[in-house]
Amino acid sequence: MISLRGVSLVYPNGTRALDAIDLEIAKGSFVFLVGHSGTGKSSLLRLLYREQVPTRGEVTVDATRVDKLRRSKVALLRRNVGVVFQDFKLLGDKTVWENVAFALQVTGARTKDVMRQVPRVLDLVGLAHKSRMFPSELSGGEQQRTAIARALVNNPKILLCDEPTGNLDPSNTNEVMDLLHRINLKGTTVLIATHNAIVVDRMRRRVIRLENGKIVADEERGYYLAAGGDRGTAAAEELELVRSRNGLGTNPLFSE
Ligand SMILES: Nc1ncnc2c1ncn2[C@@H]1O[C@H](COP(=O)(O)OP(=O)(O)OP(=O)(O)O)[C@@H](O)[C@H]1O
Ligand SMILES: [Mg+2]
Repeated sequence: MISLRGVSLVYPNGTRALDAIDLEIAKGSFVFLVGHSGTGKSSLLRLLYREQVPTRGEVTVDATRVDKLRRSKVALLRRNVGVVFQDFKLLGDKTVWENVAFALQVTGARTKDVMRQVPRVLDLVGLAHKSRMFPSELSGGEQQRTAIARALVNNPKILLCDEPTGNLDPSNTNEVMDLLHRINLKGTTVLIATHNAIVVDRMRRRVIRLENGKIVADEERGYYLAAGGDRGTAAAEELELVRSRNGLGTNPLFSE
């Protein structure tokens, strides 16, 4: 479904964002992309919807060589690949309904299809009752669910999410993650770049970890923090903290 072979991305200013990435993501997967800030997560997603073209290597999405795609075919790719961002990117002067409908209308969809598809996705994200509202009248979670509805209205096979819960409180975060999970259960491949450790640790799905533009770990049922190194250190530090709070020395067996 998604394949990267020997992919590097160097921005025009010389920044190497991705370095010799090899990656396969199967149809129907639910995958987290984690790693420190500036490590290349957003850059990797940008390659998949052809916001960036790799400096080297091959990017294949649903059997299409995205790196070689003609400009005239980019719109077609983006119907197959929905994208959701941290800051929602809704049009403020359009209602929920209009924001979602617009994504269909720009593809030249017939009114009949707009009238059928928009209610379908608004129902799916639980916002049918808010369809006449403007983004400024919605909570953050509702705005993100509108953005997800817009990303889904063309029935994409893949949904890319760049920190979809970055601006949300814990309860809206849960709602949005539940929604993304349900979307995945219906067969859409979902790829999420995130800094939210709680979300990643609760879902226990495939976790791909980037560091300095390289994949340094790829676990089928992973955690937000790396196995061994990071997570071990974090656990040790926490234990240390508990012990010092309880007045225990570093080794409780030998302390008084
Ligand atoms: N348009 C750009 N032009 C030049 N350099 C860029 C551009 N976009 C990103 N970079 C650089 O590429 C590297 C990877 O950035 P990217 O945005 O992919 O990281 P990220 O993992 O998404 O970080 P964050 O977690 O902060 O969102 C960084 O060094 C960043 O400064
Ligand atoms: Mg990013």
